[in-house]
Amino acid sequence: MLPICLVWLPLAVPAFLPPSSAAFAPDKSQGYDYIIVGGGLSGLTLANRLSENPGTSVLVLEAGSTHFDDPLIDIPGNVGMVLGNSSYDWNYVTVPQPYANNRSFQYHRGKGLGGSTSINYMVWNRPAIAELDAIGGLGNPGWNAEDWFRYMRKSETFTHPEPEFAAANNLTFIPEAHGDSGPVHTSFPIFISDAQKPWEPALSELGLLRVKDPLAGHNVGIWMGQSNVNNKTQKRFSSSEAYYRPIANERPNLTVWTSAFVTKILVSDHQKEAPQSREGLLSIPGVQYQKNGETKYAYVKDRGEVILSAGFGRSSQLLELAGIGDPRILEPLGIDVKINLPGVGTGIIDQLLWGVSYELKNSSIVTLDDIKIPELKAAALAEYDANKTGLMTIGVTAYSLVTLDDLVGHRKATEMIDIQATKISRGNFSQTQKEKWNVIINGLRNPSEVGLVEISGFPAFFTTAKIGKKYLTFLGHYQFPFSSGTVHIVSKDVNVQPAMDPHYFEDNFDSQVFIESTKLIRKMARAGGFADVLGDEIDPGMRVQSDEEILEYVKNFSATAYHTVGSAQMLPREKGGVVSPELKVYGTNNLRVVDMSVLPLQFSSHPMGMLYGVAEKAADIIKSSISV
Ligand SMILES: Cc1cc2nc3c(=O)[nH]c(=O)nc-3n(C[C@H](O)[C@H](O)[C@H](O)COP(=O)(O)OP(=O)(O)OC[C@H]3O[C@@H](n4cnc5c(N)ncnc54)[C@H](O)[C@@H]3O)c2cc1C
Ligand SMILES: *[C@@H]1O[C@H](CO)[C@@H](O)[C@H](O)[C@H]1NC(C)=O
Ligand SMILES: *[C@@H]1O[C@H](CO)[C@@H](O)[C@H](O)[C@H]1NC(C)=O
Ligand SMILES: *[C@@H]1O[C@H](CO)[C@@H](O)[C@H](O)[C@H]1NC(C)=O
Ligand SMILES: *[C@@H]1O[C@H](CO)[C@@H](O)[C@H](O)[C@H]1NC(C)=O
Ligand SMILES: *[C@@H]1O[C@H](CO)[C@@H](O)[C@H](O)[C@H]1NC(C)=O
Ligand SMILES: *[C@@H]1O[C@H](CO)[C@@H](O)[C@H](O)[C@H]1NC(C)=O
Ligand SMILES: *[C@@H]1O[C@H](CO)[C@@H](O)[C@H](O)[C@H]1NC(C)=O
Ligand SMILES: *[C@@H]1O[C@H](CO)[C@@H](O)[C@H](O)[C@H]1NC(C)=O
Ligand SMILES: *[C@@H]1O[C@H](CO)[C@@H](O)[C@H](O)[C@H]1NC(C)=O
Repeated sequence: MLPICLVWLPLAVPAFLPPSSAAFAPDKSQGYDYIIVGGGLSGLTLANRLSENPGTSVLVLEAGSTHFDDPLIDIPGNVGMVLGNSSYDWNYVTVPQPYANNRSFQYHRGKGLGGSTSINYMVWNRPAIAELDAIGGLGNPGWNAEDWFRYMRKSETFTHPEPEFAAANNLTFIPEAHGDSGPVHTSFPIFISDAQKPWEPALSELGLLRVKDPLAGHNVGIWMGQSNVNNKTQKRFSSSEAYYRPIANERPNLTVWTSAFVTKILVSDHQKEAPQSREGLLSIPGVQYQKNGETKYAYVKDRGEVILSAGFGRSSQLLELAGIGDPRILEPLGIDVKINLPGVGTGIIDQLLWGVSYELKNSSIVTLDDIKIPELKAAALAEYDANKTGLMTIGVTAYSLVTLDDLVGHRKATEMIDIQATKISRGNFSQTQKEKWNVIINGLRNPSEVGLVEISGFPAFFTTAKIGKKYLTFLGHYQFPFSSGTVHIVSKDVNVQPAMDPHYFEDNFDSQVFIESTKLIRKMARAGGFADVLGDEIDPGMRVQSDEEILEYVKNFSATAYHTVGSAQMLPREKGGVVSPELKVYGTNNLRVVDMSVLPLQFSSHPMGMLYGVAEKAADIIKSSISV
């Protein structure tokens, strides 16, 4: 660990202060040891761990509200209901995507304590061992699967299913893979739709093998999935329920302010000429934020730190607004470049998912479609309230992770991989880009270790159902796209959403994967195991047949999986990195980023499990790097 903060010279009255600023002068005795921007997954994990020491003062500034005891968040069956509601959701949108008919994709992001863990789909899984080790391999010493798994287990308390229920539904797990005393409660859903039950028999007809527990480091095959739902209460266990609520009134030195929108990382204008430490590193005195219509300031103590956990699109925005980023982005906007870090906001990678929906032959089977019918929803809510059982406890349980071999056969897969590898090695791409793509190529060449496309069985229609009909939607979810893009500010105004440009469908390999996965889904749906259950394909429907038609369908009707990474990558600085393996922003003394932005590669899993591991590890890194 680098020794940091050797010298932290007191600031003169900094230029950022408003003119009549005596009252605002940074009184460091009133400052915090840590200011955390964003009370989402990462922010609240850090807040909890850093404030374990009662002598450490922590301030969390969260733009949204508290959301305690809100049934729209708590009840699993209400999943999706708050998307688009600005009390819970930032409602971003991508810039028009030229390779997808210039479509602008909706992009939901959680707002309020818990961040996106308060509005997400509660899918609880983890990447494979090889993927986590690859993060270290890019030049991040200290990051490896063994350590990561230890921290992932630390975050979790897994409730074993009742043996009878497990046997009846093939719920299998490996106890040692799970935590038994961490803050996040996880479990198998206790309501499994009959529409999902033929999953394993049907998919195994296609040669896919059973995974005993995808959280144990090997996840290629078929499995029954888990959720971050507390089995006892049958409530969603967001980062707020897990890491904040139990200590909300217990730690006098932990301050959490909601409705506090951070508008600026403070950087003194003097610092460019007079660096604040021996190494010439930039020191961040604190942040500016808005609360109740007022502009306010919060400062860190000497040796204190500011930690950005504002999530994808926001942490990098605050860096760029502070003059930390690519001069080609900052200068045209009239922003003084404080640290030339061209990696900020570049190299983002997003995953897409899309649905192929089948009508069920038996419309009496209970699926999530039922809650569109008011009387059925009222009955389901009554049962949930009285007994914590029934439809409102539903979760997705039917999953598979398939490989390129599964999609196109081994010979064609090898051919496709060779063509892609040649394109990468001959192309005029940066070394870092090549290195990152070669990690994907390695994964493709080792399909028993790393999967490519998740296909799950969602017990409802994906888009618009006919009332009274029931559906099973196969969700395709491509894990390792080669297409890669940017997110950059387009204005000095913090209220203007940065331009998010993931370059969906830019790489032709990706398009082939979307087409071939759709074909595999159709084979799954027609496997014998589903013969008695699934009727007609409704979406896209059998009129969509050619590769071009399939691709057009996916382009028009896919959605982000909300797993975007890479806007402040953890990589060596000379490789375009923004943060070090200690998650410190290069060129700064006391500024870190801890959230989804720092991951330089995608994973074959939904992010929560993995990211709690990052935040837990970050807390230990921060605790051991500083003597407050
Ligand atoms: C709709 C949806 C479904 C998903 N489904 C799943 C799933 O099923 N399984 C899974 O594993 N993952 C899922 N995810 C992804 C997962 O929830 C996120 O990857 C994870 O929450 C990201 O954590 P984070 O700490 O990076 O950011 P977040 O958890 O999003 O937290 C960021 C926080 O910062 C706050 N903030 C932002 N800007 C500011 C500012 N300027 N000032 C103050 N506060 C600010 C935000 O309001 C937010 O609370 C889903 C995400 C979404 C949006
Ligand atoms: C809060 O932290 C300060 C040191 O920063 C310490 O003096 C004080 O005792 C702590 N308060 C409590 C209630 O522990
Ligand atoms: C959005 O959420 C708020 C808070 O729960 C609620 O009062 C409001 O009715 C919701 N708006 C819509 C359009 O659903
Ligand atoms: C997308 O928009 C660009 C710029 O407006 C335009 O040149 C292009 O033709 C459009 N492409 C499609 C497929 O509509
Ligand atoms: C349970 O698993 C066994 C063994 O893999 C399989 O034969 C059976 O069809 C499965 N049953 C269900 C309901 O998934
Ligand atoms: C989990 O919850 C279900 C439904 O309330 C209950 O039947 C079961 O006993 C619980 N499991 C454990 C281990 O408590
Ligand atoms: C239809 O599903 C219901 C509920 O699962 C079940 O009770 C019924 O027997 C099924 N009918 C047929 C014809 O399979
Ligand atoms: C709750 O469970 C009890 C016992 O199984 C049952 O009698 C009752 O009808 C249930 N309540 C609701 C509202 O479903
Ligand atoms: C390679 O790309 C760089 C950066 O985009 C560009 O400056 C250079 O001209 C390109 N070289 C060739 C041979 O195309
Ligand atoms: C896809 O979207 C484009 C642009 O909106 C539209 O022209 C085209 O007809 C759509 N195709 C399908 C199959 O929906």
